[in-house]
Amino acid sequence: MEKKIRRIGVLTSGGDSPGMNAAVRAVARTAMHFGIECIGIRRGWQGLINGDFMILSTDIVRHILGRGGTVLYTARSEEFMTEKGREKAVATCKMLGLGGIIAIGGDGTFKGALELSRLGIPVMGVPATIDNDIGCSNYTIGFDSACNTAIDCIDKLRDTMQSHERCSVVEVMGRHAGFLALYVGIAVGATSVLVPERELDFERDIVERIQNARLAGATHFMVVVAEGVGSAFDIGNRIHEALGLDPRVTVLGHIQRGGAPTGRDRETATRMGYYAVKAFAEGRSGSVICTKEGGIVEIPIEEALAMTKHLQMDRYDILEAVASSGPRRQP
Ligand code: F6P
Repeated sequence: MEKKIRRIGVLTSGGDSPGMNAAVRAVARTAMHFGIECIGIRRGWQGLINGDFMILSTDIVRHILGRGGTVLYTARSEEFMTEKGREKAVATCKMLGLGGIIAIGGDGTFKGALELSRLGIPVMGVPATIDNDIGCSNYTIGFDSACNTAIDCIDKLRDTMQSHERCSVVEVMGRHAGFLALYVGIAVGATSVLVPERELDFERDIVERIQNARLAGATHFMVVVAEGVGSAFDIGNRIHEALGLDPRVTVLGHIQRGGAPTGRDRETATRMGYYAVKAFAEGRSGSVICTKEGGIVEIPIEEALAMTKHLQMDRYDILEAVASSGPRRQP
């Protein structure tokens, strides 16, 4: 019979995202529910190397469900990339009697988890990043909160852009992906959205869209740029040169990573945290907890890391159809 797991560790790694705390809480509470002790590893993989831990009691996780950030702190560890670093991490697991590690984060976090599992430590992954760029899971914890934060900021920008009849260029996060930009762009009714997945044709994507919007009666314009496309300041300068407008550029930056998680993020994080522990309790490990068609599936880490997710380009048609920019250019 499988040896019952007695104690696990949980850590958050990479860029933080709203809802990480909700996942930590769910892991700690579910572990208690299954009679497993739960130790919080602080500062991600680096904390595992350094033996930097805290006991996750009921008290400590009591008020964190709705809090942004991560009470476990997070870090990106160079040392964990080395064999020596990983050996130290294994030594910590042995010292603390950890029968498994739940790693909450993005692709980089799961690469680390895979390496650790190869050294004999059972692991489970929980996807959390505002970028929503994890191939294996339809959804990642934090995306909804980050989108809503960006939408809220852009709505405020729109008020002043509308008063001054200006053009606004807003840069949003997303690393190499445009999931956040396209979602937000549709939700704010942007004049144009630039994403790394679509090659930029400045004339088609910006100049004509702003001209058409103006001809259709618009007096202010909102251009949303995914950071993976390049600098919003460059785009602003090009708009000035091409159209004579005087755009105001805003880089939303890390504000998108903060704030209380939305209901969707709290609920998803809680379900993911629960299923990660349940897998351990039932003797399974080595997978990422993923959302698929509204449900939860476990996908082996190696397979999960090889999966890709594509931006739904039909959303561009939707964006064009509902924008106040008149008829689209005929091919
Ligand atoms: O992956 C999350 C993310 O916020 C990306 O959108 C962004 O490119 C990156 O992290 C920023 O990282 P840092 O916290 O190192 O500035």
